[in-house]
Amino acid sequence: MENETLVHVFRHTAQAARFVSHLWLALSRKALSGQAAFTVALSGGKTPSVLYDTLSRSKGLFPWSRTHIFLVDERFVPSDDPESTGNLIREHLLDPLSLPGETLHPVPTEGVLLEEAARYYENELRTFFGERCIVPCFDLVMLGIGRDGHTASLFPDSAELEEKNRLAVPVRTGYTPHERITLTFAVINCASNVVFFVTGRDKAAIMRQLLDKKGDAKLPAARVRPLNGRLLYVLDEGAASMLGWDSLRDHVSVVVHP
Ligand code: 6PG
Repeated sequence: MENETLVHVFRHTAQAARFVSHLWLALSRKALSGQAAFTVALSGGKTPSVLYDTLSRSKGLFPWSRTHIFLVDERFVPSDDPESTGNLIREHLLDPLSLPGETLHPVPTEGVLLEEAARYYENELRTFFGERCIVPCFDLVMLGIGRDGHTASLFPDSAELEEKNRLAVPVRTGYTPHERITLTFAVINCASNVVFFVTGRDKAAIMRQLLDKKGDAKLPAARVRPLNGRLLYVLDEGAASMLGWDSLRDHVSVVVHP
């Protein structure tokens, strides 16, 4: 079905993480059959560390030397701060695999102002993807969701939701203790594959609100609609526990894994 959205539900979080790991490998092999690099944008927060740990146990299988990891967003904190997304990915993925530093394209957060950091990151994207590429299209973007429906660092009722031209923008919001830099929807929705990885009962209500027929279009996460790419939700049973199978939007298909 055109633009079908797939929801995969797993009994256990570890199974959901393994599914994404297998998907990542398949997507990387497909992408690298026709291009030099496999490009991924990763999110921070508490949820994805189990996924990064799972990926870190896959050394020999993955084409890490041709994989380039960018950040969906970053907290404007020192690079060694426990809140730093770059630090999370180095700790849970790069270091265990002894991957070279250039695998990760971090957002600068030291010695620069917030706006300068966003501009720098935009330049990094344009340099890597090439100036000809008006909007960088990642092979894979991994997203989480907040209980308020935010994704990346795109928060409800924020001006950044409407940004159409910039690739990355600074975020100052009362929703979080730290200022942030975030990719915009222009970049997220240009991706070939966007995967929401959501676990835990505390996300059940927002997942129902997002996927329900009367889905709340105002939610920032509802604005993730890849233009030509695929959209997947990978949930554990806790995050899926309030999905009313009869109330899912008509173009959502659900696969419940045993
Ligand atoms: C971040 C993320 C953000 C996150 C959600 C969910 O850096 O915080 O990009 O969008 O995915 O806030 O966070 P948890 O996984 O901690 O619930």
